[in-house]
Amino acid sequence: MPNQGRKIIIAASVLSALFATSLSAEEGPTPEQQAVTATENRQAVFKLLAVNIGPIVGMARGAPFDAAVAERNARRIAVLATMIPERFAAMDTRAFAVETEALPVIWENPDDFAAKAAALAEAALTFADTAAGGDQAATLGGLRNLGGSCGNCHDSYRVDDE
Ligand code: HEC
Repeated sequence: MPNQGRKIIIAASVLSALFATSLSAEEGPTPEQQAVTATENRQAVFKLLAVNIGPIVGMARGAPFDAAVAERNARRIAVLATMIPERFAAMDTRAFAVETEALPVIWENPDDFAAKAAALAEAALTFADTAAGGDQAATLGGLRNLGGSCGNCHDSYRVDDE
């Protein structure tokens, strides 16, 4: 089976190339640098959540209602929500002096933390489905529920600075 043999050789050389790259890199990031990156990455997810809910909040405060934007942004929020537990599982930064508002209990209650992220995703999908119907009052009436699932997690897992 010459073909299979060739595949194995290619796979092996790809692996050794990857391995060589990581070995030849002078020094990989230190655990401290990894913690900073992990913190920045999870904060980026929250920044994008805020970017996407912003226009919806704006509509509730009197900006022109745009059902398509409301639906699109809510669907983005549902996808971003799935990254929240993933990013916190990626690295436990409790032992590092990172600039964070994440409370240490997140890593003691990963299931509850994930459940709160899932609740956000669910609320966002419900919101998006309502927005798809195009009814302004019904859509914006759902903002309390959507925003509530942000606050519900912040209450337990984010430094209270408000
Ligand atoms: C499952 C928990 C959870 C949910 C749900 C959640 N957040 Fe957060 N949020 C956090 C935690 C924890 C932090 C602190 C992260 C850090 O500093 O490392 C945070 C931080 C933030 C920040 C500050 C980010 C920065 O610049 O450092 C913003 C803005 C934010 N959240 C907005 C939102 C919005 C808007 C929603 C809802 C659409 C939301 N969050 C839903 C837990 C959550």
